[in-house]
Amino acid sequence: MNEQYKSLFTNYTFKRGLELKNRVMMAPMTNFASDEQGKVTDAELDYYRERSGGVGAVITAVAYVTRDGKGFQNEISADSDEMIPSLKRLADTIKGEGAKAILQIFHAGRMAPKEELVGDQPVSASDVAALRPGSITPRELTNLEIETIIQAFGDATRRAIEAGFDGVEIHGANTYLIQQFFSPHSNRRNDKWGGSVESRMTFPLAVIKTVKETVTTHAKEPFIIGYRISPEEIESPGITIEDTLTFVDVLADQDLDYLHISVQDFWQGSIRDEEDKESRVILISKRVGDKVPIIGVGSLHTPDEVKEALDSGVPFVSLGRELIMEPKWVEKVQAGRESEIKTTVTKNDQEKLVVPDVLWSAIMNTPGWFPIEE
Ligand SMILES: Cc1cc2nc3c(=O)[nH]c(=O)nc-3n(C[C@H](O)[C@H](O)[C@H](O)COP(=O)(O)O)c2cc1C
Repeated sequence: MNEQYKSLFTNYTFKRGLELKNRVMMAPMTNFASDEQGKVTDAELDYYRERSGGVGAVITAVAYVTRDGKGFQNEISADSDEMIPSLKRLADTIKGEGAKAILQIFHAGRMAPKEELVGDQPVSASDVAALRPGSITPRELTNLEIETIIQAFGDATRRAIEAGFDGVEIHGANTYLIQQFFSPHSNRRNDKWGGSVESRMTFPLAVIKTVKETVTTHAKEPFIIGYRISPEEIESPGITIEDTLTFVDVLADQDLDYLHISVQDFWQGSIRDEEDKESRVILISKRVGDKVPIIGVGSLHTPDEVKEALDSGVPFVSLGRELIMEPKWVEKVQAGRESEIKTTVTKNDQEKLVVPDVLWSAIMNTPGWFPIEE
């Protein structure tokens, strides 16, 4: 290994005792390859097997905790005990290659697509549609339904434990239900679940509490709890960085093992205020200090870019698109073969890169998402 990349390969032990062999994780990425019931398929396992040999941990594609929270076609389900064998195949595949396995869990809320709805309407904190073309106005959840979903996060966590995962990541980002409760755009409630910025934290904090209690009761081995957050929303009203900094102060005291900051570019400033150019990841990392480790992410491709991100003081990075384009990224850096790392794809690479069909077709047909070489 080239000496300058040594810092990528320091190990780390989380609060709940899990040890990672290095500082690079696979970012959670939906791959649209589970079957109709949400059970993982061989194609999906092949894709993970190919990518689990080098990284310290793989954070899986997001899994739904209740059927009405399904957010994508062919998504992983963690919504019933019947799914435990499927989850176990996933955990075993990832761990079999040497990475720790972390299951990302969520409820899509108002972002559930029309084709995946249980009835004819999605659910959310309030009956406000997302500002996206084709959005369906959701139905406001009742108190009882909210409590049921919170419990479902606990149940999904228990299933992850029974399936042999090393942790869960609570998906509080990317506009899904947990974020919808924190957002003043989607949460217009005036009961205990909404109103002030503190009240808008009630749902996320209740989910965290239930997940923690589940881990305390059921985990016999070290099992970590991460939380993913989006720092801002572009909408007005929408989540501001001030809201988020107030929230991360509270999150930093929740005994979480890590906070994962979801942005498209690690160095990106505010999406609400052009003048504010400070990286959201670094801003949050400075705010929490040593209270909870941060995972940074976003448009990091080369080992030099990853090193520069880690040098900023953020203890971990996760790689998303780059690990699709270069499954052996970590192994190549470790072997001093960084000059062989691919940072683009060609239309002929699907088989070589072991990418499931629907994901591959999304990559090829979404302009600007991946750097596609002719
Ligand atoms: C194909 C694909 C699927 C994704 N699915 C998820 C997901 O299930 N959960 C999530 O939190 N983020 C998801 N993301 C966002 C990534 O985790 C990551 O934050 C984003 O791609 C920026 O990092 P990158 O530049 O390294 O790809 C997805 C991204 C891609 C490219």
